[in-house]
Amino acid sequence: PQVYEYKFHLSKVELAPDGFTKLVSAVNGQYPGPPIQVNRGDRLIVHVVNCLGEPTSMHWHGIFQRGTPWFDGVVGQTQHVIPDKYTFTYDFTIDLQSGSYWYHSHHRGQYMDGVLGPLIVYDEFDKILYGYDEDLIVLITDWYHDNSADLFKWFLSPASKGAEPIPNNALINGKNDYNCDWAAKGSKCVNNSELANFVFKKDCKYRMRVINTSGFSAFVFSIDNHDFEIIEVEGTKTIPYRINQLSINVAQRYSVIVDAKQPISNYWMRVEFQQECLPDEFAYNLTIDNKAIIHYEEASLENPTTNSWTDKVEECVDLEQNKLKPLLPNIPPNCDTRIVYEIEFKEDSNGVNRPYVNGSSYVSDEEYPTLKKVFDGVHEFAKTENIYQIHKKDEVIDVVFINKDDGEHPFHLHGHVFWILGWGEKDEKLVYEKLNTLNPIQRDTSTIPAEGWIALRFIANNPGVWACHCHMEWHLGAGLLVQFVELPEIIKTLNPPKSWWDLFSK
Ligand code: C2O
Repeated sequence: PQVYEYKFHLSKVELAPDGFTKLVSAVNGQYPGPPIQVNRGDRLIVHVVNCLGEPTSMHWHGIFQRGTPWFDGVVGQTQHVIPDKYTFTYDFTIDLQSGSYWYHSHHRGQYMDGVLGPLIVYDEFDKILYGYDEDLIVLITDWYHDNSADLFKWFLSPASKGAEPIPNNALINGKNDYNCDWAAKGSKCVNNSELANFVFKKDCKYRMRVINTSGFSAFVFSIDNHDFEIIEVEGTKTIPYRINQLSINVAQRYSVIVDAKQPISNYWMRVEFQQECLPDEFAYNLTIDNKAIIHYEEASLENPTTNSWTDKVEECVDLEQNKLKPLLPNIPPNCDTRIVYEIEFKEDSNGVNRPYVNGSSYVSDEEYPTLKKVFDGVHEFAKTENIYQIHKKDEVIDVVFINKDDGEHPFHLHGHVFWILGWGEKDEKLVYEKLNTLNPIQRDTSTIPAEGWIALRFIANNPGVWACHCHMEWHLGAGLLVQFVELPEIIKTLNPPKSWWDLFSK
């Protein structure tokens, strides 16, 4: 194992990823932030230098933080904010996991303004196992031209009636073009901005790590004339599964293997908004092209002229169990405890449409995060903290979400992967006896279908405070979150570094 050290300087810079200039909260002056690339078992040290002019934090999406729950980066839960003009160092070991992850600010809607990047944990055997030549990152996102704080102000007012802000564009590896006719007068905008370009060598095989870092949008990913095989979902290796388009929801990641076996030419990669899955009243009706170029070496330098070779199918659910099978069987033990959460949206007393989990909307306590409370010996929590405490080591927990809302919700659990035992769409009944306990896939972010349900299972073997929330930032910011306080008795025997305590007095 090695030690990898990064310095992330966070500041606001004018950037124009799609030709439209906006003030981006950038990592080392760029968007997306630089990739973190480590190997399994390595220690990662990241110095976050905050010059944003506002508080921040950094979360390592999908990393377990075993033994270091204080570095999970969730404001209000695992740490105090990193104030402006202050440097905080994250220092943890990435053990027993490899695959495609990402990092992002976990403070308010900040990552939608730019504070994010890919985090890849390599496994040296993967290339031989799956027979590919090169590793590529395809980071996709929706993109707002306004800043998240302003959009939140509107969204969390009665005026929005709960309709989420609609993105202006989408990007691939931080690039796309934009039709400046649509931009407001007086804004800085240039047409025909450069697209992302992936170079293929004929007959080579590429592992593409598709990472959806959206604040709100699910996408359908495809490459003209090329199908591909899924081999990884969020750190879980899968039996290769061939497919020609991939639905990917917010915060999800897949690795696909693409074989450069087509005639030497240029081909479009397409990352299209999955609009049909939104409730009618919120549908974007966006006619935005989000494309990148697949350029075979020796082909001309002209743009591709290929047409989409598949009809876009909007599945509105994740890939099914029968398609996505783990490469290594990992059979879940029987459930000890079942928690049932009901999700619904309704107006609060101020006329703001908010999400509720079992009747309670989460309110973040930024000054007194949950983990600090645990160290202080607090064991009773406010209802609005949406906390469930687990006291028995290795207890097997089933979490069932019943979604009363007419929109889907990509839910992410920190500190763990969960087994997906099953889900149902509207009108599909939940029958516990019929759940898949034989070969379910494990991942960390999974979609609860609109007016449907999902059943997840995990083992309480990682002491910490773990958020479990909808990864659509608008919903998270409005309170669609629960927390697991996992093994508080063990947490209390652990020792966060002085630097973590120091944040509270800054
Ligand atoms: Cu990607 Cu709670 O995080």
